Amino acid sequence: MSDLGSTFDEARQEFARLTTAVWAPAGQSLVFQLGLRPGDAVLDVCCGAGSSAIPAAAAVGQSGLVHAVDLADELLEQGRLNASERGLQNIEFVCADATEWEPPSTVPQLGYDGLACSYGVFFLPHMDAAFTRLAGLVRPGGKIGITVWRRGAVCEFADTFLDAVARHGERSIGPAGAAFDILERMDTPDRLHQWLAGLGAHATEVRELSNIIPATPEFAWDAVLGGPLRGALSSFDAHTIEAIRRDFLELLTDRAIHDIDAGTLVGTATTNEPNAT
Ligand SMILES: C[S@@+](CC[C@H](N)C(=O)[O-])C[C@H]1O[C@@H](n2cnc3c(N)ncnc32)[C@H](O)[C@@H]1O
Repeated sequence: MSDLGSTFDEARQEFARLTTAVWAPAGQSLVFQLGLRPGDAVLDVCCGAGSSAIPAAAAVGQSGLVHAVDLADELLEQGRLNASERGLQNIEFVCADATEWEPPSTVPQLGYDGLACSYGVFFLPHMDAAFTRLAGLVRPGGKIGITVWRRGAVCEFADTFLDAVARHGERSIGPAGAAFDILERMDTPDRLHQWLAGLGAHATEVRELSNIIPATPEFAWDAVLGGPLRGALSSFDAHTIEAIRRDFLELLTDRAIHDIDAGTLVGTATTNEPNAT
């Protein structure tokens, strides 16, 4: 399993506690904006526990199908439970690297009708090439869509956490660090429009989701442990991690950070028909 997959597997519990406030609103919004229809075949990459894949399965109904792909086994297992609780039988959670995904024979020959990727595209190595290949698995005239953090979102919070880490050792979040740099290419509505258009898609649409979450101590620490920031703690022992947690919560108070800005951009586009410009 990749480092990133292990990081998210270890994050399972806290990741789940972030779902209602963070992952689910974005996943549901992405699915609405994709305009999926009954009978559609959908590929959801970097699906986690299904925040967009499960609403997609509900949108396409029994005559449709969803392939939900992720590297993190534990999150996939949670996704299977979530789907089963909802009685959804048209969704398959598969442990695979999205950059190597090939559609099985159950997918129509022309390709998927839709591709979704919520808070995942910036983790893909060689992001543009990887996402262009995935978009190529969608039929001409199909829909593609992603969610990403809006510029400034999560920054203040993440910086404060890393400042607390720096008091005890190296200020680095490990393999996921590159994702935060690459995000800059698509973190405003203009940039995201341009990025989607650069993939060879048209009818780009970008909407902004405002999501400001009270930074209670419990939620703030879950937000660290429930995602890639937890990578910064991998080399510390339990005693030091507890000291970092206390320093972090103190710094949030000192800096008067009372909320976490989870502002998000939802970007969708239509893949080009042959001969379309
Ligand atoms: C921030 S989580 C988002 C999960 C889900 N889309 C959601 O919004 O709840 C990012 C996910 O991307 C997955 N991921 C990262 N790189 C991947 C890759 N190359 N192939 C498949 N999944 C990947 C991680 O394992 C993690 O579950």
